[in-house]
Amino acid sequence: AGNTAATPPAPSDANTLLLGVATSLTGGQATFGISTRNGIELAVKQANEAGGVKDKKLAMRVYDTQGKPEEAAQAVTRLITQDKVLVVLGDVASSNSLAMAEKAQAAGVPMITPSSTNPTVTEKGDYIFRACFIDPFQGFVMAKFARENLKLSQVAVLQDNKSAYSIGLKDVFTRKFTEMGGKIATIESFSQGDTDYRAQLTAIKKSQPEAIYVPGYYSEVGVIARQAKELGLNVPLLGGDGWDSEKLYELGGSAIQGSYFTNHYSPDNPDPRIQKFVADYKAAYGAVPDALAALAYDAANMAIDALKKAPDTSGPALRDTIAKTKDFPGVGGAITLDEKRNPVKAAVVLKVGDGKSDYVTTVNP
Ligand code: PHE
Repeated sequence: AGNTAATPPAPSDANTLLLGVATSLTGGQATFGISTRNGIELAVKQANEAGGVKDKKLAMRVYDTQGKPEEAAQAVTRLITQDKVLVVLGDVASSNSLAMAEKAQAAGVPMITPSSTNPTVTEKGDYIFRACFIDPFQGFVMAKFARENLKLSQVAVLQDNKSAYSIGLKDVFTRKFTEMGGKIATIESFSQGDTDYRAQLTAIKKSQPEAIYVPGYYSEVGVIARQAKELGLNVPLLGGDGWDSEKLYELGGSAIQGSYFTNHYSPDNPDPRIQKFVADYKAAYGAVPDALAALAYDAANMAIDALKKAPDTSGPALRDTIAKTKDFPGVGGAITLDEKRNPVKAAVVLKVGDGKSDYVTTVNP
């Protein structure tokens, strides 16, 4: 799509500033989208309670991407052409955000993905931003943790070959782990939605790894953990942010306990700003906010901050204002965007326990 921008849209209503949300509310990534919508809704509600922006109320229009790139692209087109939103927020899975970024960039409407970590998302153009770190960092963090903290020398990889996120993380992890003197025992693949991983896990067992890196999403990872144990593969799994879901514990049961994954934040962080967010979110939704909720809250607040500061609400004015985001106090860490429109932030490593994950360590960039 390049860096060109079309005529900016007018707000849909003179008294409302409309934010567009496209995220996966159903399908194998449903908990991602639900947390994302909740996080944005909380930010909008709080901003309205604080008086809105420039004498106007904020509102949001939400579409379900169903976890499918084609649906995600259509949702953005609808948000922009029909609803005339000022900013697009979403999606979680990088493959969906890649399809969305194409449309937002072509229309000249700024898009902030809260949680898509694949580097190519923001490379779609200068209207595309994010509120999270990127996978070259996340993959490095787990490679370092595996080598230095867990002292592993031989790790197998099981990747989702339908997911831009999974392929990207596999690339970084295998390169970094090897550079640090480790050995990749084997790399096996599955496709999103598969339910039987026994053939791949049998090949992995033969390669005698000390752990398996599974850069996938919770729906698959939980099932993989159970099938690995059934096959007598008694090694921890290692993963990335895609594991972050309440469903992981249900699907993985005791088989996933003792495994480790990288993530964006821990709700146990005693920082008062984080604890206030956790309390507000719990009061509104009856659940502890996961990283998706935290990053969505941050992305929405970045958009709201830009609406306050921009000279007008045109696409170019908002784009230029978002690009200047600096030391923004997010609950998922302070956000300063670099020249590629990516924040530089710390990652945490979490250990999967019984029904929740425990904080292990923080790795700074
Ligand atoms: N980073 C994942 C992706 O890009 C999405 C994700 C983020 C999932 C945070 C869970 C938690 O596809």
